[in-house]
Amino acid sequence: MPLVPMRVLLDHAAENDYGVVALNVNNMEQIQAIMMAAQETNSPVIIQASRGARAYSEDAYLRHLILAAVELNPNIPVTMHLDHGNSFATCESAIQQGFTSVMMDGSLSEDGKVPSTYEYNAAITKKVVEAAHAVGVSVEGEIGALGGIEDGHGAGLSEEEAKEHLTDPDEAEQFVTETGLDALAVAIGTSHGAYKFKKKPTGDVLRMDLIEEIHNRLPNTHIVMHGSSSVPQELQDIINQYGGKLNPTYGVPLDEIKRGIKYGVRKVNVDTDNRLAITGAIRKVFAETPEKFDPRAYLKPARLAMKDVCVTRMVTFGQAGNADKIKCKTTREMVDFYKK
Ligand code: G3H
Ligand code: 13P
Ligand code: ZN
Repeated sequence: MPLVPMRVLLDHAAENDYGVVALNVNNMEQIQAIMMAAQETNSPVIIQASRGARAYSEDAYLRHLILAAVELNPNIPVTMHLDHGNSFATCESAIQQGFTSVMMDGSLSEDGKVPSTYEYNAAITKKVVEAAHAVGVSVEGEIGALGGIEDGHGAGLSEEEAKEHLTDPDEAEQFVTETGLDALAVAIGTSHGAYKFKKKPTGDVLRMDLIEEIHNRLPNTHIVMHGSSSVPQELQDIINQYGGKLNPTYGVPLDEIKRGIKYGVRKVNVDTDNRLAITGAIRKVFAETPEKFDPRAYLKPARLAMKDVCVTRMVTFGQAGNADKIKCKTTREMVDFYKK
């Protein structure tokens, strides 16, 4: 089965009321962990690479590793997605490199830091949609800028700025109509990384109500939640137990994501939880058996720890059991789909 455009997976998720976790990768072990979890649970998968991942791993390595995953797992539909593309050129090069889905994150300027204007975002996203759909590739856009109301300072926004940049449902409606995108990322108070919330988040900092409102207005639009790691206490504890130094922190509870899925969330971005799982497993081996130096001694447990995180999310979000039910389409077939 060739790589699948993301739209195919999200349409199936919407028709069957589930969400799909989108998992960031930089290396072979992470891709293997995802595929092990997908096999164990019969799940479709979205594998995504950020600009940083593309620079670290190089497109050719990423593409061939993901194609190896497809070859070894012919029963699993796999989408290869660009996470947070910052410009038309970044999206264009991803498409040339075989990505079957791209995110044009025009919520920020090309530097990937400063929030942009609505006009810039709508124009650049529309341009990417036109180019991508012409070759059957799916597009995710973002309206509102991610930043996190609490502890979202890593994204460069103050608490007040983050509140100002939450997604405005009116703008969301206009943005979807103007751009014709396939999936809409929204800003509801989450941020990237481990430090999202100072305590278990309540509705004033994790604005799930915005998702409900956006879904009521745009019932046919696939909503994407970024910054959706749950930052489980047990993963924090393993890191700290074996010499790490994480400050107390809270992520997005799995139950809140399940609630989002009831209201149109179809793609759930998770990276940090896997980073925590990998780091904890490696630290444990280093601490308990300092005489070991074969990388496989710590990469194997790291891969298994990531697999466990992926399995839990695949089961919780409802994508488990669906891989063999999806009627896959190729990018070529999607060209005709978009012409209609
Ligand atoms: O967007 C955030 C993802 O976790 C990717 O992070 O840019 O460090 O690869 P990265
Ligand atoms: P986390 O940092 O919460 O895992 O979010 C990842 C993400 O949104 C990637 O785009
Ligand atoms: Zn993100």
